[in-house]
Amino acid sequence: MLFVCLGNICRSPLAQGVFEHLTVASGRSAEFVIESCGTGGWHVGDPPDPRTVAIAGRNGVRLDTRARQLDPAIDFERFQLVLGMDRNNLGEILAAGCPGERAGLFLGYAAAKGLRDLEVPDPYYGGPEGFERMFRLVRAGAEALLNEMLQDAA
Ligand code: 4NP
Repeated sequence: MLFVCLGNICRSPLAQGVFEHLTVASGRSAEFVIESCGTGGWHVGDPPDPRTVAIAGRNGVRLDTRARQLDPAIDFERFQLVLGMDRNNLGEILAAGCPGERAGLFLGYAAAKGLRDLEVPDPYYGGPEGFERMFRLVRAGAEALLNEMLQDAA
């Protein structure tokens, strides 16, 4: 699955790292191809934002990706599921030609289980509380998504 945000240095690399971490803990990591990217290209080649690396690290998750931009020619073939972190990301994914049945919101699975939020807000221009909130939402989203995937595979 492919996680998509705007810059690929905050939300989607965190989602990738947390989801990978959970798949390893569940013993099912071999069943998943997990990457992230951004709809924008400003940060291509950059490591995740230090504030994102810090909050991931405090929660036992190491991030070691480099930012890349969404590549419709390859990504919509390669990934069964392309999940945007907010509605704007999802709009860009669909506008770039992703088949609707493969596209969705990352928090859609958690929302179906009762989470009130549907979007992970961009924390880039805000304070530390935005990064805390991002982490909580990403963890809830990743847990719900993995549960759903493992149920489907069972
Ligand atoms: P992300 O956050 O989409 O969660 O990686 C952002 C990072 C950088 C920018 C925007 C959002 N930017 O405009 O540089």
